[in-house]
Parts: sequence; C-alpha cells; structure tokens
Amino acid sequence: MRQFNEDTLTAAVVERIQRGTKDERFREILASAVKHLHAFARDVHLTEEEWFEGIKFLTSVGQKCDDKRQEFILLSDILGLSMMIVALNHKAPAGATEATVLGPFFAHGAKEYGYGADLREGATLKGEDVYVSGRVLTTDGKPIPNAVLDIWQAKADGIYDLQTEGEFELRGRVRANEKGEYALKSYKPKFYSVPMDGPVGDLVRRTGNHHMRPAHMHAIVSAPGYQPVITHVFVEGDPYLDNDAVYAVKDSLVGKYRKVDDAAEAKRVGMPNPFIRLDWDFRLAAEAGVKARKKIAASDAIA
Ligand code: BEZ
Ligand code: FE
Repeated sequence: MRQFNEDTLTAAVVERIQRGTKDERFREILASAVKHLHAFARDVHLTEEEWFEGIKFLTSVGQKCDDKRQEFILLSDILGLSMMIVALNHKAPAGATEATVLGPFFAHGAKEYGYGADLREGATLKGEDVYVSGRVLTTDGKPIPNAVLDIWQAKADGIYDLQTEGEFELRGRVRANEKGEYALKSYKPKFYSVPMDGPVGDLVRRTGNHHMRPAHMHAIVSAPGYQPVITHVFVEGDPYLDNDAVYAVKDSLVGKYRKVDDAAEAKRVGMPNPFIRLDWDFRLAAEAGVKARKKIAASDAIA
C-alpha cells in the first residue's frame, strides 16, 4: 500500500502495528495512541510549525529531567493525566484510604525510622511543630503490624529537598509497630507552588491558571499482603483545597491539624509545648480480591 491521505493513513499505521507487535497489551496501547494522536491532528488541523513547536516543548521537558527533577511527571500532573490514571486504577475498596498523585518528588532511599520518627532531624528551615500519629488498619479496622510509611513533604518555604543541593529533608521510611501504630514528628505542611522554572511552568503561565498546591504530607503506605496506597493528607482550611493545580484533592484525605497546649501531653510525646497534632489512620485493602492489575510495590513507585 502507498499513497495515503488523511482519511486512509491512520488505518494503515494501525494495521502495521497490529501485524507486527507481539505483545498484546502493548499492541492495544500503541494502536490506540496512534488513533488518538491522528484524530487530534485532524481535529485542530495541526500545522507543521505548530507540531514542531510541540516537539520543541517535549524536547525541553525531557532536557529538564535529571535524577532529581522529573518534568514529565509534572506535565502529566498539570494536564490531569496522573489523576485520570489514579481514578481509573484505584477505585478504593470500601473503607480503604484513597489514592492520589505521586508527584515528582518521591525519592528512594530515605532514612529508615521506627515509631516516633523525628523527620525534623537536620532540617534547614524550621516550621510549626507537628506530631502525627495513628494506625495502619485493614478496611474493617484491624491493625496491620509493621507497615511501612514512606513520608515526604515540602519545607516551610514550599520547596522540596530534591529541588535543592542539600541532604534529604522532611522525609523518611517510618515503620509502624506490632500493633499497627505509627508516630512521627515533622512540621505542619504549607501550600506551595509547583515548579515553575521549566517548560511546564511556561505552559501553566500560558494557560493563565494558577500553580499552587494545597498543603499536604505525602505517604506511600505498604504492608505484605495488602495493596500499597500512594496518598496525601491535606490540611483542613487550606485556601487551595478547591483548586489544586494537579486536581489531586479528595474529601476523605483532608485532615484536622489541631493545636495542643498541654505541657504534660507535650512531654509525653516529646514535643515542645504548644504543638500541632494530626491523628490519622491509613486503611489498606487486602491484596486478594483486587482486580488483576499490576501491583506497585512502594519501592517501585518510580523506577
Ligand atoms: C507534589 O505534591 O509534590 C507535586 C505533585 C504534582 C506536581 C508538583 C508537585
Ligand atoms: Fe507535594
């Protein structure tokens, strides 16, 4: 076959993919991507100059990536694609903690801690002291022993440790105890801007949209025999809860950070008085009964 036009080209490309591609799922994905890309070009009648602009943009997104900066994840987040994929794949079984975006600032290899972890260790910026504690439970409320909570959050200036040259900061892998209880010390999260110093920032500016995320603490919670969950805890009252730049807020993930002014309680938990406290349980669904889909081990969340 030769001599294709805008009405015959898509079918020819799809046919070629389907003929040669052995892996069934890959074949399905690639053929569908081609169909949608061609449809998009036809829909807006894309010119060569415009497509070249698109290629330049994607090139600059790639060039901005390194071992700490993940501009493609940011692009996926800003376009709502990350949350679309979360929505498709993580319909939390009743009672399980809901999932939300991973974001570009997860890192492997954070320091390991036990109950009472102090994630403020070595912090270069102070914030409002917060004590977070709770349990990791099954969907019907039974404790899951020894779960691991991979925790990370931005510093008081809204910048993540990975965005600077320094050491890991305000992050850690916190192991819950035999009774499923965990506790950690950190600073109260604040709202912040997504990184705006790259091509994705330029794109956001061009759309005239804002670039803020409501305050949150990230967590990946995992335990053998349970589906891991990639989630956040947001801060009740945050001004950006209703217009998160990456569409990641869920009502069930908004937590109450309450002020505690009680010297005895502060002493008991090893905090200055007064301090802020968040009581938060995570609930994991059992692995059995989950529809067949790839399981993401916490440590494999990004390669
Ligand atoms: C974050 O929460 O760290 C994040 C998520 C999406 C885009 C930028 C940052
Ligand atoms: Fe974040």
